[in-house]
Amino acid sequence: METRPFGKTGFSFPILSFGGQRIVDEHNCTEAEAIEIVNAAIDRGIRYFDTAWIYSNGQAETRLGHVVKHRRKEMWIATKTWDTTRDGARRQLETSLRRLQTDYVDEWRMHNVWDFERLDQFTGKGGALEAAVRARDEGLVRHISISCHTDPQILVEALDRFPFSSALIAVSALDHFVLSLAEEFLPMANAKGVATIGMKVLGLGSLIHEVERSLRYAFGLPVSTVIVGVHSMAQLEQNLAIAESFTPLSDAERLAFFRDVIPLVRPEKMPWKAADWDNPTEWAPRNRGRR
Ligand SMILES: NC(=O)c1ccc[n+]([C@@H]2O[C@H](COP(=O)([O-])OP(=O)(O)OC[C@H]3O[C@@H](n4cnc5c(N)ncnc54)[C@H](OP(=O)(O)O)[C@@H]3O)[C@@H](O)[C@H]2O)c1
Repeated sequence: METRPFGKTGFSFPILSFGGQRIVDEHNCTEAEAIEIVNAAIDRGIRYFDTAWIYSNGQAETRLGHVVKHRRKEMWIATKTWDTTRDGARRQLETSLRRLQTDYVDEWRMHNVWDFERLDQFTGKGGALEAAVRARDEGLVRHISISCHTDPQILVEALDRFPFSSALIAVSALDHFVLSLAEEFLPMANAKGVATIGMKVLGLGSLIHEVERSLRYAFGLPVSTVIVGVHSMAQLEQNLAIAESFTPLSDAERLAFFRDVIPLVRPEKMPWKAADWDNPTEWAPRNRGRR
């Protein structure tokens, strides 16, 4: 599999990485299956594993932890804080470390910064970023990261406030058409040496009839790596096969892909860009929450 440098960290990862949200009962994945999938991913060369404190009440982290316990040195672990406060985030980090059965994480992310108010909360006085800097000084966290689906300008502003090592961003082909993080944020991130991780590549399920073109499209972007959430060996195998034989879409193929998926560019197919995730009938206004 092609590997790419991960920002300024000195590490490189294969283009396909592991989205750890789905290895849970909620997605019909048993604990035994979860352990088998994660072990198989490592055996096949995947090194980057994304998870979060909030996923399935801790089951996602706990299951990853069953493998981390035995194979820590082969894994880059990224987890996240949902809590925007310094003290709350610290408690979440301590819980994450316990569940993951490790004494440090490679990357700790400010999770899902959907508007400027949330960015202010994370980065302001008494915010989670203070906990992150302290945890990095203590060696509990190696790199500080941020994630965003909604508006590239939030991340542009975030990088002005703090030198985040990496950013996890939504980069599906559908995202190309609405407040595109790939168009408006990737060039700046790359110029600054900020690592970038692509997500929402299968549009949270909206593009599962287009697995091959969706993955080839995302791998063809100038991102450091791409996480895809999987809950079965079959999904992992299919995604690995596409990554291992990856060639970028040609210009003509990319245009044809856009033409085929453009009818899906609707709030209800892209709830992460909608004004209301639970009732996605209209787009979120640009720069929501900006004062
Ligand atoms: N803000 C954040 O930081 C944030 C938010 C959400 C997720 N994430 C991370 O991103 C990862 C990726 O999730 P995502 O939300 O971006 O979703 P996604 O990757 O766009 O879609 C993942 C879903 O696609 C389906 N899938 C995967 N491989 C497949 C295949 N080969 N064939 C058919 N279907 C396939 C699975 O759906 P089914 O399970 O329905 O089969 C899987 O759950 C998550 O695991 C998580 O680690 C981060």
